[in-house]
Amino acid sequence: MISPVSDTAERRRPLVVAIDGPAASGKSSTAKWVARELGFRHVDSGALYRAATAATLRVQPDSAVWTEEMVLAAAAAVSLVPSDTTFHARLAGQEAEEELRGGAVTSRVSLVAKMPRVRAWVNDRVRAAAAGHAVVVDGRDMGTAVFPQARVKIFLVADPWERARRRLLQRLERLPTEEEIAEETDALVQRDAKDESQTQRAADAVLVDTTFLTQEDQVARIVALAKTAMR
Ligand code: C5P
Repeated sequence: MISPVSDTAERRRPLVVAIDGPAASGKSSTAKWVARELGFRHVDSGALYRAATAATLRVQPDSAVWTEEMVLAAAAAVSLVPSDTTFHARLAGQEAEEELRGGAVTSRVSLVAKMPRVRAWVNDRVRAAAAGHAVVVDGRDMGTAVFPQARVKIFLVADPWERARRRLLQRLERLPTEEEIAEETDALVQRDAKDESQTQRAADAVLVDTTFLTQEDQVARIVALAKTAMR
């Protein structure tokens, strides 16, 4: 996990808190909150995969014919714009949050995320965003492929039913029915399977199971780990 803080090599490690985990494990909302508490900036790597997917959909709605070259060319329309506390992925200079989070993108993003040059494109952008800033990054492979030297590595997990329930609560802004949760659980488990090869838990990551934790508790736990690691 976190090596002794008195070690000088440890102090030279970049100020990166890497939070990885499966779909709807609460990575982005937790990362955003942790970043706010620490005064760091949040970088959501999944938003870049989503933006590349949305940009390609605008050019070619039939994902069956997508090639890596096509996705990379379309991704030229994606920019990552910094604000005080985070970075916003924009499409052709415009905010496109609804498009990025919509079903058309969600059902195709795993396909795009399997393309090695698209992964390299995302990783370059995430590293560039982190250069010169202390950051909290979230994704699937932040603590392994992108920031193997991150000061703090967290792997968030939660029971699929609970992840589905939380996601629906957020999306519908009301209590979901059992049938809705069952359907969403099925979709999440399918996306987990598609993302399996790109979801990597670092050997030195701290596993945080949030099934029975409130978001406040999980944020407090990660902030405490980060503060200890940076003392
Ligand atoms: O985190 P989010 O669900 O927004 O990520 C969208 C998709 O991007 C994931 O389903 C996964 O396919 C891909 N992804 C990835 N590696 C990351 C972040 C996201 O492959 N570091």
